[in-house]
Amino acid sequence: MPSVGSVADTHSVKDREMPDTPQFAGPIAPPARLLMGPGPISAYPSVLAAMSAPLVGQYDPFMTAAMGETQELYRSVWATTNEATLLVDGTSRAGIEAAMISLIRPGDRVLVPVFGRFGHLLAEIAERAMAEVHTIEVPWGQVFPASVIEQAILRVKPALLGLVQGDTSTTMLQPLDEIGALCAKHGVLFYSDATASLAGNPFEADAWGLDAATAGLQKCLGGPSGSSPITLSERAVEVIRSRSRVEAGIREEGDAEASDFVRSNYFDLGMILDYWGPRRLNHHTEATSMLYAARECARIVAMEGRDAVIARHRLAGDAMLAGVRGLGFEAFGDVGHKMSNVVAVEIPEGVPGDEARGAMLSDFGIEIGTSFGPLHGRVWRIGTMGYNARKDAVLTTLVALEAVLRRYGVAVAPSGGVEAAADVYAASSAEA
Ligand SMILES: Cc1ncc(COP(=O)(O)O)c(C=O)c1O
Repeated sequence: MPSVGSVADTHSVKDREMPDTPQFAGPIAPPARLLMGPGPISAYPSVLAAMSAPLVGQYDPFMTAAMGETQELYRSVWATTNEATLLVDGTSRAGIEAAMISLIRPGDRVLVPVFGRFGHLLAEIAERAMAEVHTIEVPWGQVFPASVIEQAILRVKPALLGLVQGDTSTTMLQPLDEIGALCAKHGVLFYSDATASLAGNPFEADAWGLDAATAGLQKCLGGPSGSSPITLSERAVEVIRSRSRVEAGIREEGDAEASDFVRSNYFDLGMILDYWGPRRLNHHTEATSMLYAARECARIVAMEGRDAVIARHRLAGDAMLAGVRGLGFEAFGDVGHKMSNVVAVEIPEGVPGDEARGAMLSDFGIEIGTSFGPLHGRVWRIGTMGYNARKDAVLTTLVALEAVLRRYGVAVAPSGGVEAAADVYAASSAEA
């Protein structure tokens, strides 16, 4: 092999000539897809329309008003009065990273109960924030009793508890309602990642005593990934403010400069708060089209009604669960603690999981997912979220699944899935 920069290498670069006509000259034309996996999901049409609205300047009164409206809308989605309710530009992971790196001081003890892949992610991000990380684990498919979390809090004495609400890898929904009181009792900051669960399952930021919570648009909120809603309690804001630092060039007299400032510029929530707040201090350039998308996602929740949207997810989830059972699948894990919006099913013996998922996509245009780590190739995950928490999407998916199962020689009760799901819809008074 020639080394980098050798004659042969230089030639191969030269030989790659610029084409006369660009190869990808056509406009982007994605195929028709029904995204029924664990997310991303098909966005609401009005969210896509909002994203094509004209851009305005960063400090245009229309823009700052849209930012304010978005904050107000997300207060209702999170069920909070937190002033510090805003968006972090980036995917859900950006919100997680902003929350953790801004709240955790190097050397702080952080407790992360892990019940799936995304608990590991919180632990990983806490570690990068230089925390002393402690984890407790339950087998995938289970959640933690509050008493187990309290015992760990007493043992570890963390500064912050990081807890995923809905771990998409296992589909489990960790109950949070008792955890905030435990954290308050023991002086612990309580952060939750609600990426997969927000707007499809109950979430009560204030009533449950959350200090920080983050999400993404690409699950039950029915948008694309790329914007992360976040809400912060006054206690969390105090911690962040105690680490304030304003960039040289825009710093003004009287601006505090903490020695233990946040070790990320982009994810320093103090600076992001100053940009969203009355000072409008320049930080990043807010991603305008994503702001429009995030605003529309929350507007849909507000217009339909938060409880109605959660009920719609529950109904679609119940129907999908009945449907997959009607097809003979076994649902994975402690189904009583499953998120409404996604179910994992054991792939039947003898069915090549990835090939069968490929058939769902190529023959029916329907995407479903597998999972990670120990569950990769063992389960399929089927989501019913946001725009796709709909009766026709549920029934269409079940019809396709039945056909694919049959193709791989699985004996399936004719229309067993569709009928079971339709029965759930027929028995419900909620809006489909
Ligand atoms: C629970 C949870 N947390 C975090 C993430 C990471 O989200 P993103 O890919 O938007 O950064 C995901 C993605 O699926 C998730 O399900």
